[in-house]
Parts: sequence; structure tokens; C-alpha cells
Amino acid sequence: MKISIFGTGYVGLVTGVCLAEIGNDVVCFDIDKSKIKKLKKGEIPFFEPEIKELIERNLEQGKISFTLNSKDAVRNQEIIFIAVGTPQKKNGEADLSYVKSAAREIGKNFEKYVVVVNKSTVPIGTGNLVEKIIKKKYKGDFDIASNPEFLREGSAVFDFMNPERIIIGTKSERSKKIINNLYKSFSCPVINTKIETAEMIKYASNAYLATKISFINEIANVCEKVGANVDEVSYAMGLDSRIGNKFLNAGIGYGGSCFPKDVKALHNIASCKHYNFKLLESVIRVNNNQRMLFVKKTEKLLGNLKKKKICVWGLSFKPNTDDTRESAAIDVIKLFQKKGATINAYDPKADYEKLKREKVFRDKINYFDDKYDALKDCQALVIATEWNEFKAADLTEIKKLLEKPNIIDGRNIFDLDKINKNGFNYISIGR
Ligand SMILES: NC(=O)c1ccc[n+]([C@@H]2O[C@H](COP(=O)([O-])OP(=O)(O)OC[C@H]3O[C@@H](n4cnc5c(N)ncnc54)[C@H](O)[C@@H]3O)[C@@H](O)[C@H]2O)c1
Repeated sequence: MKISIFGTGYVGLVTGVCLAEIGNDVVCFDIDKSKIKKLKKGEIPFFEPEIKELIERNLEQGKISFTLNSKDAVRNQEIIFIAVGTPQKKNGEADLSYVKSAAREIGKNFEKYVVVVNKSTVPIGTGNLVEKIIKKKYKGDFDIASNPEFLREGSAVFDFMNPERIIIGTKSERSKKIINNLYKSFSCPVINTKIETAEMIKYASNAYLATKISFINEIANVCEKVGANVDEVSYAMGLDSRIGNKFLNAGIGYGGSCFPKDVKALHNIASCKHYNFKLLESVIRVNNNQRMLFVKKTEKLLGNLKKKKICVWGLSFKPNTDDTRESAAIDVIKLFQKKGATINAYDPKADYEKLKREKVFRDKINYFDDKYDALKDCQALVIATEWNEFKAADLTEIKKLLEKPNIIDGRNIFDLDKINKNGFNYISIGR
């Protein structure tokens, strides 16, 4: 099929190249000149496993192309996906300005019937909004639909190719048939529903996962008070198939470009309809509090943080991605800095230049390309993201390089016995 994608971020680019890989002709449009320039050369503007080879192969075979010209991305297409960002506004509401401008751009270039599918995570009712915007520009026949995306950064290509479900929200038989046909080679359950329900499924899913994380963090905090071990508690809970073991790791809370904004957006959607979603209020509060508690623990071990030097391993919001948006690591570093600490930071993939350019940290921070170099002269090592290379780190080397053998582990990556045998002062979460 002939498909175009508006937005070449984590979702748009992965969707585009995976749909090309399964035999479609895909045009990707973005307003970011530097991104398109890179993509045309086969360079990937962010880190994501598996994607580079796919892009190179599909570029070579002419199955995917990149453009800054919206006309090229609309003309002759059968399906147009909107996969632009929907960040949060200050009041928690989803910012739809990118979705609206994509809709305007699409509407003004229409020539014939096409299905416009929203893949971005958007408030319930956005499908209708997109339809209205397009109708102002184009009087002909078209359909709108919703097809929320569930891929995870770090395993985005695998997730897209192996979905657990596909949600298709439509309001005409014609568009339903077209989108179902696009996904006919996938073997997972396909849920055909109305647009509003499809939009809600995405928010409800993310809000539920965030709730699970805040729940286990609260259990961890109680574990500390009563002498229980949260890792064993969550393992045993997870064996119950009604609960499951995913998203049950205690830590310094959820982050990333989705959970924080989506939980707030759903809370806001409910508020706008005069419903107070109290559970989500608690989920947000618990998540913020988890960062504060972690800093308090650090102070308990190190004393006043003024003039202390702390090494932080991990800046991305989770392993296997370079994405630092709303990362718990960033929040914790800012709190350390507020207390007067200097930070030596190391992350395997985070884009240090971008962090500097965007002035994410106002106070002093030193970036390192080697995790062991970052430890020198520090009074403690803080684990903020659970990268595998941290789990496999050499404890003897860490002890040798740190000024004092203190580890504050925000992700419970180290084995308690091993750590004790190595003579560290060690604090983790709920153990
Ligand atoms: N990142 C994830 O893991 C993930 C997973 C599922 C769903 N989502 C949702 O998917 C959407 C996109 O997320 P993302 O992480 O890919 O965002 P992103 O910030 O990585 O990328 C968005 C892209 O859209 C482009 N853009 C903005 N306005 C445009 C326009 N008018 N026309 C064309 N391109 C435009 C930007 O330049 C950028 O390249 C969001 O709603 C997000 O909540 C994200």
C-alpha cells in the first residue's frame, strides 16, 4: 500500500520503516530539516536498536523515502499516519499544536480519498478535531481513524513487528477495511472499535502501567519500615498470573516521554469532564515523592551534600535508549545539585551535547565517556538507570576508584550479598 507518515520521531520512523519492511511504499515527512537531511543519508537521528539496518535496506530498495515537502507526502497515498509529538502543557493538558498543524498540512494537499490515522497519543475527541481541521481545507471524501502505538523505546522495532494487540478505531466500513488490510500479516488480536475507545485504550494502558510502578514503590517504602525485601515480594506477586511480573520493579519512579505526560493528560481529560480521578493524583504524587525519598537516603548516607561529589551512572529514562525526556535520573541530579553537590555523570547512549545545548542542568556537571573514569574523587556512586553494563560492573574496581565506598542504588541492580562481601556502604530501594 502507499503510506505516508507525518513525524519521524521514535514512533513515526519505526512505524514507517517497519511498514516498508513488510512490503509497503512509505514516504516520511517531518518539519525538522536536520532530521530529514540525516535520514536521507541513512543516518538515524536517535539511538534505537535494529533501526539502522532496516532504514539502509529500505532506502536502497526504494521502499522508503524522506521529504520536507508535505505535498509529496500526501499526494497519491492511501493511508496517512500522524505520529507527531503530543507533549504536555504546564497544566497537564496534552499540547495538540503539532497534531493540528499536521492536520492543516494534510488537508491543504489532498487530491483524492485517503484515510488519516492518528498514531500519536491524543486526548479523546482528537479524531473529530483532526477531521474538522481537514474539512476546512478539503471538501472531498476522506476518513479519519485512530491506531494508537504501544512500542517501547529500546525495543521499538521488535515491538512494532510483534505487537500484542492492534487497536483500530474507525467510523466507516471503508476505512476499517483499509487499515485491517494493512495489518493483515500480523497474527495478534485486532480490536476494531470506535475512535474514542481507541484513543482511551492508549491512555488507560499507560496510566495502568504507571499505577503499577507507583504501587510497588509504595510497597518498597513500607518494606523498608517493616524489614521485608521488595524484590522478593514483587517476584512472588508477579507469579500470580492475575498480577504478572512486568512493571513491578521498585526504584526511583517512572519517567520518559510517555508515562508522566499521559498520566497527567488522562487526569486532565477526566477533570475537564468534572471527574476527579483521585487514583491518578496519587500515582503522580507517589512518583514525585520517590525521587525526594531517594535524595533523603543519599543524605542519610553522605551527610550534607554541599560540596560533595557524586558519580551518577545513567541519564536516559530507561536502558537501551538515548531518550532523557522526563528521566528520573535528571530529576534526581537536579535535586542533588540544589543541595550543593557536584555531579560526575556517565550514560552509555545519552546525547551529552544535546543536554548541554538545552541547558538541562544549570549547575555544574561533568560528563564522562567511561564509567570508571567518572568515579574518581567521588564520595558515592548513584545508580539511576538499570543499564546491563552497570549490572556487570567490577565492584572491586568501583571500590578502588571511589573516594569512599558508598553506593546508593536507585534501581536495585546489585546483589545484596555480593555488595556486603565487597564492604560497601549500600542503600537501595525496599531491601
Ligand atoms: N516514544 C514512545 O515510546 C512512544 C510510544 C507510543 C506512543 N508514543 C506517542 O507517539 C507520539 C510521537 O512520539 P515520539 O516519541 O515519536 O515523538 P518525537 O518527539 O520523537 O517525534 C515527533 C516528531 O514529529 C515531528 N513533527 C512535529 N510537528 C510536525 C508536523 N506538523 N509535521 C510533521 N512532523 C512534525 C517532529 O519534528 C519530530 O521529529 C506522541 O504522541 C507519543 O506520546 C510515543
